[in-house]
Amino acid sequence: MTRIGIDDIAFYTSNFYLDLHILAEKRNTDHDKYASGIGIEKIGIPAPDEDIITMGANAAIQILEQCDRHKIDTLLFATESSVDQSKSAAVFVHRLLDLPSECRTVELKQACYSSTAAVQIACALVARNPEKSVLVISSDIARYDLESAGEATQGCGAVAMLIKADPRILSIEPGSGCYSADTWDFWRPNYCSNPKVDGKFSIINYIRTAKECWKNLAKNTGVDFNSIYRFCYHLPFSTMGLKAHIKLGKEMSAGKTQQELEAQVLPSTVCCRQIGNCYSASAYIALCSLLDNEQDLAGKNVAIFGYGSGCAGEFYYGVVSDSYQKMLRTDHNKKLLSAREAIDFSTYLEFYQASDTKKYQDGNYTTPAVTPGMFRFSGIRNHARMYDRCADDL
Ligand code: HMG
Repeated sequence: MTRIGIDDIAFYTSNFYLDLHILAEKRNTDHDKYASGIGIEKIGIPAPDEDIITMGANAAIQILEQCDRHKIDTLLFATESSVDQSKSAAVFVHRLLDLPSECRTVELKQACYSSTAAVQIACALVARNPEKSVLVISSDIARYDLESAGEATQGCGAVAMLIKADPRILSIEPGSGCYSADTWDFWRPNYCSNPKVDGKFSIINYIRTAKECWKNLAKNTGVDFNSIYRFCYHLPFSTMGLKAHIKLGKEMSAGKTQQELEAQVLPSTVCCRQIGNCYSASAYIALCSLLDNEQDLAGKNVAIFGYGSGCAGEFYYGVVSDSYQKMLRTDHNKKLLSAREAIDFSTYLEFYQASDTKKYQDGNYTTPAVTPGMFRFSGIRNHARMYDRCADDL
């Protein structure tokens, strides 16, 4: 049977971040609650000329510079931070990346889960035509009300993955375990710019969904928990993945200690601590984090849990390819995070308010040039969103 899975993966986040020491001081909160309790130190904050399109294009261009773009016959864009109710984010990125006009383009939504649905759909499309590849982009801006409990779990980022036959990073095993239920843990009505959240219930719902998905994966594939070497979870904050894994592991692992269970997840949480929640992109930025921060994964099983509030979840696993290390961008990724600019609290508030769309309502608006990224959102002309490619080199 043809092996299908992730052939290449790259991520991107804004060049700007807020250090949570600053937020802790302003919100009169113990910084340890953020650093240890939720496990986030810095949150990525998009500049006024960044959005899901620019971040997605900045992630994907890294892959496109090294593959045959004419073999990409589908672009799936997963997000819950849509910029248009009709036109998909995939169409904007399709032009920015100069993909072939024969390429299928569509956007997918189910809170943070949509990236995992996109990966599974991509595998199915490649199974139909193993000569072709599918580009999956997942890009989101996690935003909460100022002064809310969720404020410290904001963040932004994008991940791009090339799904193809004979993948050089992760061969995805065919079976998976899904769980869906109509719940009100986190949702964003069309008339609200920020989500409504039942934080405590969302944690309970996440853990319940992880357990149900694992049970369904085990039932569908016969996989044993102890055969999985490392786990990547959707990470709204880094301790969420750890908490869920420890609960799951205590039931399923037949005797692994808490320390052993933590070691199965910790390498995947390194980036989340530096970026915060990236909604649909989080589980796959966790995969990048695992690949960059774990020593030798060749031949080992890695499980991935995608979760989206509302709710839908899926657990699946894959086998890391022997030569995966040749595909890594570890130095680039570390530089991307370490070279970012820290912003002060008033700049944070200014960037936060910049996403208010009321100023677009007369149909024309020019955004200030702030991001140093390759792509930027330059404004609105006659109600159409405009994007610029600012540089030719990464
Ligand atoms: P909160 O209620 O202010 O925090 O907000 P808390 O009081 O529950 O404290 C958080 C943790 O810090 C606790 O750890 C405290 O003990 C600890 P736990 O007991 O749970 O292990 N703590 C401290 N630790 C060290 N030193 C201290 C200290 N003080 C407290 N001084 C909450 C937390 C997550 C509810 C909030 O941030 C929130 O509402 N976030 C948004 C919702 C969310 O992220 N939910 C996660 C599951 S749902 C999901 O993942 C989907 C999502 O990504 C959306 C989508 O699918 O699109 C959100």
